[in-house]
Amino acid sequence: MSHYSENVGVQHSARTHTCGELSDAHLDKPVTLKGWVDTRRDLGGVIFVDLRDRYGLTQIVFSPQDNPSAHELADRLRNEYVISVTGSVTLRSAETVNPKISTGRIEVRVESLLILSESEALPFSISAHAQKTLLASEDLRLRYRYLDLRRPDMQQKLILRHQAYQVIHRYFDMQGFLEIETPTLMKSTPEGARDYLVPSRVHPGSFYALPQSPQTYKQLLMVGGLDKYVQIVKCFRDEDLRADRQPEFTQIDVEMTFATEEAIYTLTEGLMKDLWKKVLNVDLSLPFPRITYQDALWKYGSDKPDLRFDLPVCNLSSSFENSGFRVFDQVLSAGGAVLGLVIPKFGEKGRGYMDRLDKTVVRKQIGAGGLIHIRIPSDGSPPKCSVKSHVLPESFVGDAIAVSGAKTGDLLLILCGTWPTVQEQMGSLRLHMAQELGYIDDTLWKFAWITDFPLLQWDRQKKRYSSMHHPFTSPRAEDLALIETQPNRVRARAYDIVLNGMEIGGGSIRIHDREIQKQVFGILGIPDEESEERFGFLLEALRYGAPPHGGIALGLDRIVMLLSKSASLREVIAFPKTQSAQEPMSGTPALVESERLDELQIQYTPKSE
Ligand code: AMO
Repeated sequence: MSHYSENVGVQHSARTHTCGELSDAHLDKPVTLKGWVDTRRDLGGVIFVDLRDRYGLTQIVFSPQDNPSAHELADRLRNEYVISVTGSVTLRSAETVNPKISTGRIEVRVESLLILSESEALPFSISAHAQKTLLASEDLRLRYRYLDLRRPDMQQKLILRHQAYQVIHRYFDMQGFLEIETPTLMKSTPEGARDYLVPSRVHPGSFYALPQSPQTYKQLLMVGGLDKYVQIVKCFRDEDLRADRQPEFTQIDVEMTFATEEAIYTLTEGLMKDLWKKVLNVDLSLPFPRITYQDALWKYGSDKPDLRFDLPVCNLSSSFENSGFRVFDQVLSAGGAVLGLVIPKFGEKGRGYMDRLDKTVVRKQIGAGGLIHIRIPSDGSPPKCSVKSHVLPESFVGDAIAVSGAKTGDLLLILCGTWPTVQEQMGSLRLHMAQELGYIDDTLWKFAWITDFPLLQWDRQKKRYSSMHHPFTSPRAEDLALIETQPNRVRARAYDIVLNGMEIGGGSIRIHDREIQKQVFGILGIPDEESEERFGFLLEALRYGAPPHGGIALGLDRIVMLLSKSASLREVIAFPKTQSAQEPMSGTPALVESERLDELQIQYTPKSE
């Protein structure tokens, strides 16, 4: 007979306190606690249990003197049993006081014990993982996520996420925004990823798309006169996953009628200030700096620069013009660039270090052709370049050192290639060096706006332009004349917000003029019939007094990940997907019965190898 069934029908008092609540103020009071057995220790006949719930841990004591039958039953307790105990609060002896927990001065001496639920031996120890004495793999934790969620660390992150929701709802309410839900079964919105499709039973062969974002709907809400819209909303994108990407993620989605860039910046900065103050008690200073897309790429090699450390990239192209060094000459004559990165006070590191940096980091991880370096020795001896002087004359090396500003003891790293690839490669090297040399101060919060994005980018594979943001982004009025002749030079009224090297949001002022919208679809290679078919409803709405409007979407998961200093989005989502877009606990995605497919008139044909 299980211990549980012995207790069936037995009533225990209601919970009087949580496991994180009791202190000296409750001495000698009768209490009833309920929770999970975190650990159990039998010390010479007296059994100590740490009882755990969302609020904390409380030590409870079973002694044969206090109550022999409760003590006998306590002998059966194992980790993760759920129990109810009634007893009285007493002070711990001085040597057993635990200053690390809020209940550390007291314990509960048990008068009666009820086992509410038993637990089999666990696939991993929750208390050992929490105390970092035995770490379980992430695979195992995701397979038993409901156990993983019992860890205080996971619970703290979800509590922080909850606090963030509350601040967001209140902030937008105070600013006069309306929370409006938009459909989850919708027509595809082009946000650059693949859609998740849902087959329609009623219309065989037709599919709904899950929203990559509610972009079209929020614009139509502005046409509908709702003025200010916000929604904390699930978005779905079938794309390659990384630590900062989930197939199913949450946006704080915002749209405003008559919005200007300034209005969106002020609104977003206010939200960030409120969030950081109320969640972390950190005062952010406003406004956030603004960097143009071009400057971000040239200076930091990234459109989401990490500004917690300096290490700016410098352009050494003019220093190396006609140097006679074939690699540079070829790159420069093809319109490419030679870029430098000064690592100050690098000191002396062996050849092995530079070889590893070149082969493993620059070529393998970053994918650049190779690294050239110039060392300026601390002892004042002449600079040493990794390319011999008969191949790359010293005068050119000297000029590059002067342009870069490198000083005695510094190391100058050099990459060359075509734009924007070489910038991005240098951006990755900049980040690698900062991480490796410990330059990143992780107490800092470095926000920035990235502005003046190009409207379009050239897609080499498809041999046509694609939108840098999405096709509803407005071109800058002063660049409109270039749209047919030099589309690559048209700037967008788009902006991203970045924090500590991560893009946490992006948005734009939208096109509200039907003709311009059609023109942009044309540049993107979307023929009239196709744009009518895919976005006819939006083009039609633009006929009937569509007001100027704009907005932004912020990645809530990423914001919570940064606020809680987590290493991955999976740590701040209760039931996340793995790198391979699966949910291991429930086994999602799964095959469905053939009758269900028949009903949808869908046939599955595996791809032949
Ligand atoms: P965008 O595509 O830039 O813009 O998305 C906005 C923000 O959402 C977050 N994000 C993600 N977070 C986790 N996993 C993902 N797979 C993922 N993809 C995006 C990022 C990003 O900055 N409709 C436009 C917004 C607009 O124009 O108003 C949009 O969705 O933090």
